[in-house]
Amino acid sequence: MGDGDLTWQDFDIGGETRAALKGQRACCLWLTGLPASGKTTLANLLERRLVAEGRHTYPLDGDNVRHGLNRDLGFSEADRVENIRRVAEVARLMVDAGLIVIVSLISPFRSERDAARRLFAPGDFKEIFVDASVETCAARDPKGLYARAARGEIRNFTGVDSPYERPEHPDLRLDTETRSPEECVELVMRTLL
Ligand code: ADX
Repeated sequence: MGDGDLTWQDFDIGGETRAALKGQRACCLWLTGLPASGKTTLANLLERRLVAEGRHTYPLDGDNVRHGLNRDLGFSEADRVENIRRVAEVARLMVDAGLIVIVSLISPFRSERDAARRLFAPGDFKEIFVDASVETCAARDPKGLYARAARGEIRNFTGVDSPYERPEHPDLRLDTETRSPEECVELVMRTLL
């Protein structure tokens, strides 16, 4: 069955109604950055902060979705493209459900991040660059993966032998080398006002 055989079915209840029922404006906060840049730490803290304010949220974390929805995907360029595409589509559905979605995904390619943005209404997608140098990330190395990549035990590791394309015009850049996680969360909260 090709796309030409499909019809889009309209429903009377739309995303704005669902979000209004939750008393919020739904959006997708897309955290991109190198491994160990701080994405998951910030996503966790950010969600705690939003929930404390009575917001309805959902986190979509790269490591977690790769245990289920994306368990068939690895780290080749094609698989990362598909990983990002699926997470973006799920985020879109969740925003349509009225949620504030916090994505934490390396999402190393500019074109895929831009494609993700295009799925959302203007202003509903915020690209948040979690920035730390590769040297800092490799020194943090909480999972020991940079060390394994340096020893050649992991191939295609982002920042080592697989590229990370820095965002050129992110909605927000968080420098996790100079700012505390709490400060970074404050900066994100301000973009939501
Ligand atoms: S992405 O590039 O496709 O966006 P994603 O965020 O889903 O990556 O997954 C990254 C996580 O997978 C890292 O936090 C790390 O724990 C793990 N991982 C395993 N192999 C690699 C690799 N080759 N490159 C990057 N991360 C890897």
